[in-house]
Amino acid sequence: KTGMFTFDPGFLATASCESKITFIDGDLGQLYYRGYPIEQLAENSDYLETCYLLIFGELPTQAQRAEFQKTVTRHTMVHDQLSRFFNGFRRDAHPMAMMVGVVGALSAFYQDSLDIGNPEHRRVTMYRLIAKIPTIAAMCYRYNQGLPFNFPRNDLSYTANFIHMMFATPCEPYEPNAVLVRALDRILTLHADHEQNASTSTVRLAGSSGANPFACIAAGIACLWGPAHGGANEAVLKMLDEIGDESNIEEFIDGVKDKRYKLMGFGHRVYKNMDPRAAIMRATCYEVLTELGLENDPKFKLAMKLEKLALEDNYFIERKLYPNVDFYSGIVLSALGIPVSMFTVIFALARTVGWISHWNEMISDPQQKIGRPRQLYNGAERRDYVPEDKR
Ligand code: SDX
Repeated sequence: KTGMFTFDPGFLATASCESKITFIDGDLGQLYYRGYPIEQLAENSDYLETCYLLIFGELPTQAQRAEFQKTVTRHTMVHDQLSRFFNGFRRDAHPMAMMVGVVGALSAFYQDSLDIGNPEHRRVTMYRLIAKIPTIAAMCYRYNQGLPFNFPRNDLSYTANFIHMMFATPCEPYEPNAVLVRALDRILTLHADHEQNASTSTVRLAGSSGANPFACIAAGIACLWGPAHGGANEAVLKMLDEIGDESNIEEFIDGVKDKRYKLMGFGHRVYKNMDPRAAIMRATCYEVLTELGLENDPKFKLAMKLEKLALEDNYFIERKLYPNVDFYSGIVLSALGIPVSMFTVIFALARTVGWISHWNEMISDPQQKIGRPRQLYNGAERRDYVPEDKR
């Protein structure tokens, strides 16, 4: 039992680690970053302040916030030779493939901060990753589009700068759209951390061996790419395209019950109630579409109808399948002009602060040991070797 958060003994037996960063109550559908409810952070905070909270454990004072923002801003450039790294990729390479490769290679450029036992090295590496991931993510998009890379702009906010690096063209002035900045910043906040999800556990396990943090974050990106995890928002859009219109929903739901399809964006290993992020995402989706005059967007209406029918259907109710964060995020991103291929990249961008906060929490613990999950062996009994001519 720790304060308001209580655990039953059975749960404690399955816990893989202890952490002070994020708490999820899957039955109540509650999510807290360092004790603050996600609803309050989504409403009152922003992504960069959430980064400070996740890393340092407290909301920053004005001075701390200004110092943090200035330091992050000054780390947004990448080594010039990193841009040549992209020339090895096909132009149509999936941006997540490029992210895994380029982020994994960062340790080849920043050897001056790889002593993970040195708190100062850990600190500068955290700043570098939070600051450079948006720059690299935008480079992946620009490379796919055959467009020149944009330098970061230090006069813009964190999220506005990312949008600038994605969409600005050298040929004419470009100012990031305020609706896009606000909505994307909230999406980043909602995706910033989520306890011991598959990709965070991957980062922790990789980091527990003493591997450098850039390689650990690349491992997290690789794990997040899967459609059962961070790739789900891309899969939701594909699912909605395949359903086409509301007349096909019943047949699709029958296909889910026959196990021919999964209802992507539904279900969760921990939430057996509504994912609190999904409710905020739905509201953000409606806000953005209304501001853009797209409230009758057919995909949004199809998604809402699908959600309504699933929430009323015993098949989903019995299995405690509710919308998760990915059900609406793809529709918002799509409405904001973000290409589907970049959806999981944006999830990885947002989650980098969660990954690096957990990595730092683990590495800072002097008792920390290498992770070594055990197994239940159910293979062959002991037996003797059989020569080839006797098999
Ligand atoms: C994320 O861990 C995290 O915190 C992840 C995440 C984060 O922020 O890091 O929250 C982000 O990954 C969200 C999840 C995104 N993925 C999807 O939306 C893909 C669709 N969802 C499913 O793949 C699935 O729900 C999982 C992978 C998320 C969970 O799968 P589980 O653990 O196998 O689900 P379960 O054990 O609770 O399933 C119970 C039953 C099973 O059917 P039965 O064998 O009992 O008949 O529900 C079925 C499952 O087959 N089921 C689904 C379903 N999810 C589970 N059936 C149809 N559609 C689905 N989406």
